[in-house]
Amino acid sequence: MPAVPPPTPHPTWKQAWDAALYGADGFFRREAPAAHFRTSVHASPLFARALATMTREAGLDTVVDIGAGRGELLTALRALDPGLDLLGVEVAARPPGLDPAIAWTTALPEAVEGLVVANEWLDNIPCHVVEVAPDGRLVVVHVDPATGQETLGQPLGHSTVAPSLAAWVERWWPLDAREPGTRAEVGSTRDAAWADVVARVTRGIAVAVDYGHTAQHRPPFGSLRSYRRGQEVDVLPDGSRDVTAHVAVDAVADRVGGVVRRQRDVLRELGVSGERPDLGLATRDPAAYVRALAGATEAAELTAEGGLGDFFWVVTVRD
Ligand SMILES: C[S@@+](CC[C@H](N)C(=O)[O-])C[C@H]1O[C@@H](n2cnc3c(N)ncnc32)[C@H](O)[C@@H]1O
Repeated sequence: MPAVPPPTPHPTWKQAWDAALYGADGFFRREAPAAHFRTSVHASPLFARALATMTREAGLDTVVDIGAGRGELLTALRALDPGLDLLGVEVAARPPGLDPAIAWTTALPEAVEGLVVANEWLDNIPCHVVEVAPDGRLVVVHVDPATGQETLGQPLGHSTVAPSLAAWVERWWPLDAREPGTRAEVGSTRDAAWADVVARVTRGIAVAVDYGHTAQHRPPFGSLRSYRRGQEVDVLPDGSRDVTAHVAVDAVADRVGGVVRRQRDVLRELGVSGERPDLGLATRDPAAYVRALAGATEAAELTAEGGLGDFFWVVTVRD
């Protein structure tokens, strides 16, 4: 049995990622997400409309947005359906100028009767990264936040590594000891974060929307990425950029009794259609035709293959 390597001086990926995004001056405490990347919320108000429809069709009148950014989704919902009670949960401060009717907090509410949505939240929940070492053992990966240089740390099974990491990897993202360098992003932190949210829904629907993967399609070398000012940049947990990794959505759904759907399917059911409007409308009412065309273009973006339409919705209904 090879000797256990000495502890590395650098933090684990999870520690570095946490400090980079949520430390005292972390990326998300300073920066507006919309300044760095485009989500379905920014792509079109049709996304908000679909969520409003989902809420009302379920007989609910409250929407809680977890990881609410600068309140863009809630602002769109307020414009579409002023009768909804709206609450944003966000580590960043209440945005200046947010409609006073929209409540804002940093802490999850104790109990919710309504629709709880988290769009692109779970991918920003830091998680451990583990890798098959040259000797075939599965080890925790550490990173130098200043340079991104990685080092291999303790093997899973070592007394300093939580046993739950090994259990999660074995169940959800098993790695082959004969393939050094392959890695897994341990989704247990995402599962726990979403379970905490869903447990607070006394009656209603919880929806986590994110890019992700399921057991048959795990990325063999992981999916860590960074974005800054609309560009993909080198992955670095130094607080200067976003750090994200795809979500193991099947694991999340299993934890909360949820169903995994694709965004394009859910949105189409909720009336979001990217079909070209009837050409006859162009002669009958040209202005209405142009509006309908713009709506169809936005709908097409939200439902696109290879784009936002591929996003997963983990939907849990609590009666
Ligand atoms: C990728 S952004 C998504 C923003 C918005 N939902 C959208 O779709 O445009 C993730 C947001 O989640 C927030 N966030 C992360 N962890 C959080 C937590 N534990 N509580 C509240 N907000 C959190 C971040 O500050 C950031 O604004």
